[in-house]
Amino acid sequence: MKSDLAYLLISKEKLRAKAKQLGEKISKDYEGKELVLIGTLKGAIVFYADLARNISIPLVMDFIAVTSYGGSTVTNGTVRILKDLDYDIEGKHVIIVEDIVDTGLTLSHLKETLMLRKPASIKICCCLDKPSRRRTNLKPDYCGFEIPDEFAVGYGMDYNEKYRNLPEVYVLKPEIYMYK
Ligand code: IMP
Ligand code: MG
Repeated sequence: MKSDLAYLLISKEKLRAKAKQLGEKISKDYEGKELVLIGTLKGAIVFYADLARNISIPLVMDFIAVTSYGGSTVTNGTVRILKDLDYDIEGKHVIIVEDIVDTGLTLSHLKETLMLRKPASIKICCCLDKPSRRRTNLKPDYCGFEIPDEFAVGYGMDYNEKYRNLPEVYVLKPEIYMYK
């Protein structure tokens, strides 16, 4: 697995510090509000777990699965819900927790879909952002790190379902995903 990785992009220490900083900010911003933290499966789970444990106000945890890359590295712009929320978000303040925002297509579609359920508000918190690849006007409200246009794996993020369990964020060697 290690031989597929080009270099370490974000260390454990930086990830830990960022989850703490974002969690504390969210705790202040949502003080006294009913917060639902929605994780996008499966990529966001590791970041979600770190973030949630740094939020000190009560919250509801829920998860949603949507199609995005499904094996390749290029999104086709269509998004489908594979696993819906368990919880009714009407009237609640929602934060969608995402591993990485790339073109922004997945999240803008997801946000529109969830808006139809009449939450009090919806914001986005992502661990990583690749702003140079954006194809929508979506801007995360809380963001861990802006990264260059490289393919990142680890800390929940995969290529073809591999590498999610790496504890830090690495850049995948281009030859791993370019010639398959
Ligand atoms: P978007 O719709 O193009 O913004 O795609 C977002 C989704 O694509 C993310 O939630 C990831 O699942 C996946 N993705 C985009 N870039 C990367 C990457 O560098 N590594 C791993 N997954 C990625
Ligand atoms: Mg994702």
